[in-house]
Amino acid sequence: MIFKRRGMVGLDIGSRYIKAVQLNEVSDGYQLESFGIITLQPELIVDGSILDSLRVVESIKELISSNGIKAKDATIGVSGHSSVIIKRITLPQMSEDELHESIKFESEQYIPFDIEDVNLDFQILGMQEEGNQMDVLVVAVKKDKINEYVSVVKDAGLNPLIADVDTFALENAYETNYEILPGENLALVNVGASMINMNILKGGVSVFTRDSSVGGNLLTEALQKEFTISYDNAEKLKRGEAVEGIPQEEVASVLISASEEIIAEISRSFDYFKSTTGNEDIKEVIFSGGGALVKDFAPLLSERVGISARFIEPFRNIKIPDSFDKGYLKKVEPIMSVAVGLALRRIGDR
Ligand SMILES: Nc1ncnc2c1ncn2[C@@H]1O[C@H](COP(=O)(O)OP(=O)(O)OP(=O)(O)O)[C@@H](O)[C@H]1O
Ligand SMILES: [Mg+2]
Repeated sequence: MIFKRRGMVGLDIGSRYIKAVQLNEVSDGYQLESFGIITLQPELIVDGSILDSLRVVESIKELISSNGIKAKDATIGVSGHSSVIIKRITLPQMSEDELHESIKFESEQYIPFDIEDVNLDFQILGMQEEGNQMDVLVVAVKKDKINEYVSVVKDAGLNPLIADVDTFALENAYETNYEILPGENLALVNVGASMINMNILKGGVSVFTRDSSVGGNLLTEALQKEFTISYDNAEKLKRGEAVEGIPQEEVASVLISASEEIIAEISRSFDYFKSTTGNEDIKEVIFSGGGALVKDFAPLLSERVGISARFIEPFRNIKIPDSFDKGYLKKVEPIMSVAVGLALRRIGDR
């Protein structure tokens, strides 16, 4: 392993929390080396754009130093429908090398951005039985988006060696921790502060992805508006903490009606998936992200869409040394899922 060195940190720069995870490869799997979360002040990252890079850089530095993270190399995540496009396309059968040569030309018509403005990657999913065709997953990420994130990570003193898409990182985290059943559709749904990343896997293969720009912020804003309170107090209420003078029952009803909006968005995507696949069933929803932690969110979704929902346990198959506070880890693990997936990436992976 040329790149063993001091290891690689998975860095998930969200608009509300920055998450970092470092794993070590041990004889029979992975072990947690270090992890951490730091809260960003609102408005530093808006619509996926870094508006105040100095403060984001400071936060990354603090996250790294206060959690004793030693890795110098980083895998970073990107997401958001305005900068990441994932498409499943059908092409004439060819080798991987041939596709490397022609991917730009072949995928140009499917990418709604100027092809010169994006970094392209692809994966050959499989050959079709008829007509010498094959299915290919194409991923296009806007270069300026990657550069924006790469530059804050560099300024924080890390080497951003790999950029991955949040949706795929999540898939990686899931597959490392659970057995994949052939033919079964699972919806991985990551609810962040400002967006939802959805990825439907069929027997472990991604068949539908979508990023929507709603998330937990919707609940914070609804609470602020309803009770005319500060952002910080609204965040407290959302996490179930009390704020003087504000009745719990009223909080609950605001949270439920705002959650319904997020659930409606998820439900629309499921309907779309079904409509394009001849009404295929989704067996289960697997939640991650801080936005899904709001009280009763998962049962409410199950009730609305008629699909059972549970939270991902991204450290299920990862050894946790006794030095970690397992109670705390359990509490925050859904928030860490993308960072775990990023930490699992290795140079040369596809
Ligand atoms: N216990 C909780 N109950 C409800 N909401 C919570 C809880 N803990 C965190 N959150 C919310 O989770 C969100 C942050 O989650 P996460 O870290 O997944 O988002 P992010 O990656 O920063 O955002 P994005 O990817 O959308 O830019 C915030 O909106 C925060 O208020
Ligand atoms: Mg996020």
